[in-house]
Amino acid sequence: MAFKEKFLWGTATSSYQIEGAAYEGGRGKTVWEDFCSRPGKVLGGQNGDRACDHYHRYKEDVELMAQMGITSYRFSIAWSRILPDGTGAVNEEGIAFYSDLVDMLLKKNIIPFVTLFHWDLPYALYKKGGWQNPDSVTWFREYAGIIASRLGDRVKHFITFNEPQCFIGLGHVTGEHAPGNKMSKKAVFEMAHHVLLAHGNAVEVIRERVPDAKIGYAPTSAVPIPVSNNPEDIDAARKAYFSISSDDDNYMWNVSWWSDPVLLGRYPEEGMRVFAKDLPEISPEDMKIISRPIDFYGQNIYHGYPVRSDGNGGWEMVGRNEGYARTAIGWPVTPESLYWGPRFLYERYKKPIIITENGLSCHDWVSLDGKVHDPNRIDFMHRYLKALNQAAKDGVDIDGYFAWSMMDNFEWAKGYFERFGMVYVNYETQERILKDSAYWYRDLIQSRGRLLEET
Ligand code: FCB
Repeated sequence: MAFKEKFLWGTATSSYQIEGAAYEGGRGKTVWEDFCSRPGKVLGGQNGDRACDHYHRYKEDVELMAQMGITSYRFSIAWSRILPDGTGAVNEEGIAFYSDLVDMLLKKNIIPFVTLFHWDLPYALYKKGGWQNPDSVTWFREYAGIIASRLGDRVKHFITFNEPQCFIGLGHVTGEHAPGNKMSKKAVFEMAHHVLLAHGNAVEVIRERVPDAKIGYAPTSAVPIPVSNNPEDIDAARKAYFSISSDDDNYMWNVSWWSDPVLLGRYPEEGMRVFAKDLPEISPEDMKIISRPIDFYGQNIYHGYPVRSDGNGGWEMVGRNEGYARTAIGWPVTPESLYWGPRFLYERYKKPIIITENGLSCHDWVSLDGKVHDPNRIDFMHRYLKALNQAAKDGVDIDGYFAWSMMDNFEWAKGYFERFGMVYVNYETQERILKDSAYWYRDLIQSRGRLLEET
């Protein structure tokens, strides 16, 4: 067994996907309420107004987490619950909600991991130009500072941004997510740069106010998987992972574009060349701010794609087999992504790795026996965690794993059609049922991962 004694066995959620109470507790509107109200944007015209009603049921939910035996819980804070207008007056009810949640987690010996931003931008800030406005950097700094001051006596683990690839790429390139815009490359690169500056500013203000904080970042991307263990194929996959795609829909999905500035203090050369005409002015001072040291590198990893050497020092994608394994949402099942992803990221960025999200949606329902049987989820997690453990055995410094998700929830543009949880949620009654995978995870955690070795 290679996982550390203090390995974090976690689950993750995000505010908009579970909280509900969208118009309660003094919460301000977010871009997601607006997006969901537009016809055709979300499957079934659904929205997160009620979601899992976690805002009212958080005590019960933490009890469920305790039953699962998780040692850590990653959740996000709704910026607009803290600052309904995005800046200015603090909403004490919002602070009280998260403060109670944190106390309750600590009482159950569950380490809180707070994500500051998981996509629910206050609508008031969107109206001021959102991430395109250079002031977004100071807005975020102000918000991060408040969280650090008000929760930092008890919360020691912070993640600045969740998947900037998504809220910038899906939100402003393809328009599939809120705020649902299709913007020019110039505008998008400007926003992306502001997000990175906001990250660096948050790191600074959290450090000032919580000197013993551990701070990270949680980007994402699919992982190139070498088709063989030949050094040429491994090298091809590594190159593919950090290379730049300039494809019109996917140019925000580059790992190195989002992570090199934060960890290495510079944008990747290839990107600087390929995107040159669309880039904003980038000063050396900006790069210093963006690369303020962080403590761990979080990455959300769900799947990968096969890659091999092209025989000329480059790489090429390889087609998947017909009938390849897929999850309910259609994402390929590729456990090796949890081996190669952490390995390549650790080699390049040299920070302890935390898998901040991994999981799958299944066709889960309540069986005649009243239970929710999700053998696919158990098998998926087993395989992926085995791969992660192998990476640890091969020397990758891995601090933890957060399963997405603690419970079924609002899956953005897919509404409630996808069930990603280890806890089943009946959205009519709000009844929760631990799925078989929740018990499996509990046993795995109790065995400190040793159960992975048994099959
Ligand atoms: C990730 C998101 C998370 C959830 C999972 C399935 O991209 O960070 O909120 O939607 O996918």
